[in-house]
Amino acid sequence: MLTRVHNGLLIAVTTITAIVVPVHVVLGTFSEAAYTRFDWVVTILFIADFLINLRSETAAKARGAMPVVLTTRARVAWFLLDLLAAIPFHLLVPGAALLQLVRLLKLARVGQLMEIGKRRAAEHWTAVRLWFFVYWTVLSVHWLACGWFALHAERSDYIEALYWTVQTLTTVGYGDIPPISGPERIYAMLVMILGIGVYGFLIGNVASILNRIDPAQTHYQENKQRLEVFMKNRNIPQRLQRRIRDFNTYVWEKRLGYDETTVLAGLPPGLHKEVMLFLKKDVIEKVPMFHGASMELISDLALQLRPVVFTPGEYLFKAGDQGQEMYFITRGAVDIVARDGETVYATLTAGDFFGEIALFTHKPRTASARSMSYCDMYALDTPSFERVLERHPAFAAQMAEKTRERQERGS
Ligand code: CMP
Repeated sequence: MLTRVHNGLLIAVTTITAIVVPVHVVLGTFSEAAYTRFDWVVTILFIADFLINLRSETAAKARGAMPVVLTTRARVAWFLLDLLAAIPFHLLVPGAALLQLVRLLKLARVGQLMEIGKRRAAEHWTAVRLWFFVYWTVLSVHWLACGWFALHAERSDYIEALYWTVQTLTTVGYGDIPPISGPERIYAMLVMILGIGVYGFLIGNVASILNRIDPAQTHYQENKQRLEVFMKNRNIPQRLQRRIRDFNTYVWEKRLGYDETTVLAGLPPGLHKEVMLFLKKDVIEKVPMFHGASMELISDLALQLRPVVFTPGEYLFKAGDQGQEMYFITRGAVDIVARDGETVYATLTAGDFFGEIALFTHKPRTASARSMSYCDMYALDTPSFERVLERHPAFAAQMAEKTRERQERGS
């Protein structure tokens, strides 16, 4: 929280400084007294920031936990930068106006915060990138306008300089404010070249920015297109095509187009385990049998459960099949159907489990399981099942009890 306030304040003060200092240097709009007061405030805030950075770094080092791993050279560079930006040149060397621009070095801190922000807000990647682009563009236009104002012989006001900058930068260039002297022309050429660069950047990035508005959506669309081409090339029957499409849409709607197993595959084991626990905690808690289960059992299960989706009417397995895994339902309904294919022993819903008998007894499935709607489930395969039972005897006994009940009920 405190860091947020600190960073917010830093960005605000640095941005205001980046706007006000060039205006004062070039246009001299503010009265000397007002500007001096402003300079004092900025000096105090920048010194405070410098000291806080120094302190938090020493404190982090003492704790043995550096917030960011920086090379010594980078640390010295940031130290010098913070120090230089905090020096009140306006008060110390009143004559040297340009020296005041040293304050703008502090913008490097804003850039650093933006980098961190970009990494943190990966899901809003595009919006964040656009905002940063707008931020730097507005500041650059302001500086270029100040530069033009300083150079232009027939200067009138800031708005005119801004107008000239925008039209030159956007390659519009009406020519109503022509550069006259040599330096003005050179400056104009530089701004034009910069304009082409900005234009090129925009054209090159708009497509990719629009495309990446939502990486999950892109992923879904790509997958969908691939499926469409595949189904067409292989002449898949219409009925099956429809089911495939429905399934795809369901997966997209419910899971945001990502299968947790693939997305999380690259994480280090500790972090992976924590995420799995978080994701599966709800499912595990929904299953009555797990109420009051030890944390160990829950985390064991969280690591072993594999997410699966079944479509309406689909048979997960038929009576007499060999059993490879058991299932925990998170969403949807499953009918347990007798060998005759008609008698329904039970309709199981979220929080129920099934398919455990075959794993216990090493005998074929006692009944068939048919999903009645789209079903989200977690599957537990035989080796994991056996490992869990072995390590958690109380849980094994409970499950055996439930199995006995089911077997007695006549499947
Ligand atoms: P399994 O025999 O491996 O495969 C079919 C599954 O259906 C079985 O394990 C049980 O989990 C479940 N099942 C069988 N009979 C019943 C029943 N009467 N009520 C609820 N579930 C059952």
